[in-house]
Amino acid sequence: MTESNTVSPIADRVRRRFREELGEDASVLCFAPGRLNLIGAHLDYSGGDVLPLALDLGVYVAARLREDSQIRLRSLDQSLAVDVDAGSVGESADSDHGWARYPLGVYREFARSHGLAQGLDVVFGGDLPMGSGLSSSAAIEVALATALRELLGLDVPWLEIAHIAHRAETDYVGVKCGIMDQFASALGRDGHALLLHCHDRVVEHVPMDSASFHILVVDTKRSRNLSATGFNTRVEECTRAREILCEAVGERTHLAAFTVAEVESAQAALGERLYRRARHVASEMGRVERAVAAMRAGDFPLVGQLISASHESTRTDYDVSCEELDLVTSTAVGLDGVFGARLTGAGFGGCAFVVLDPSRVIEVAAVVRARYEERFGLEPGHAVVRPGGGPRVLD
Ligand code: GLA
Repeated sequence: MTESNTVSPIADRVRRRFREELGEDASVLCFAPGRLNLIGAHLDYSGGDVLPLALDLGVYVAARLREDSQIRLRSLDQSLAVDVDAGSVGESADSDHGWARYPLGVYREFARSHGLAQGLDVVFGGDLPMGSGLSSSAAIEVALATALRELLGLDVPWLEIAHIAHRAETDYVGVKCGIMDQFASALGRDGHALLLHCHDRVVEHVPMDSASFHILVVDTKRSRNLSATGFNTRVEECTRAREILCEAVGERTHLAAFTVAEVESAQAALGERLYRRARHVASEMGRVERAVAAMRAGDFPLVGQLISASHESTRTDYDVSCEELDLVTSTAVGLDGVFGARLTGAGFGGCAFVVLDPSRVIEVAAVVRARYEERFGLEPGHAVVRPGGGPRVLD
């Protein structure tokens, strides 16, 4: 996954900032992609199947090991300036450290599993909208893990890098996220989506015909402040729903293993809310399976219909959408050349995306933007994204 001579303007800025801020040249410059989940919403932590892709947008990191034990973290946009001693990186994150918690979690993983004790200078930069559902945190984690792998000369498999990044977020930062984001970033392949069976952590790469199928991301710019609380509540609801279903229907290791019929049969025991959560999980499993088959067959209208149905289910059964995301998706699906649309990431704000015929991107983006501005008085961001490669060392 090493690529040399890849020069992006952001990579250059990160390299320059490193020199200005930290006095010397970085020893290594790496990139890790963000991700977009085509379908399989909120299934990873229930052991289901998901279909994300690594994006051609992501996070760049310039890094150098130090002789002493200081860790100095900086970012292009100045949102990060944290200095800590390596010895003080404890078992769990300090909330005052903001998004430095993610790289510090990765540092701790390398300290634990590879005896890293040296200090580190790091500058981050990227072209992903931060905190908007395209997994900037996983990209930060995987980018730093890639840099440490290189700096320490370790031949750590990319699957292990995915696990390291995931443990940084769950064990150190304390987010109860599933494995999708870190796996998509660490194991992405150019021109492919990843079919990730989260229960047994098996990955298949599914080719995507980007010439016939474009993805337009629309950033609602609605902050996802509620997402941490709402997200953790969904995880707890799914744990409880599985326990009830195990009693009512029979033992299963994970919630996504129950069929829609089994969930229906246990409706009374589940109660209204948990029934809807479990119904989303079971029905979404069927949509993922059909979407993968349709993607392999090049049936993009069907992929799009399933993506729109997924949005509807996250809106009505899973309650993670919001007015802004619904306006974007409902506006887009009525337009010529649009195959489908849904929210991405955890929801509660952030980005939606539209899958569409490449010849219609400009018109669709213009209509969505105009309706959004008219309704919310705010211009949404937008970008066309494609499946890019996994993490890489740039120089
Ligand atoms: C967030 C989490 C992921 C996944 C999605 C929802 O992005 O980090 O693990 O649960 O939400 O599909």
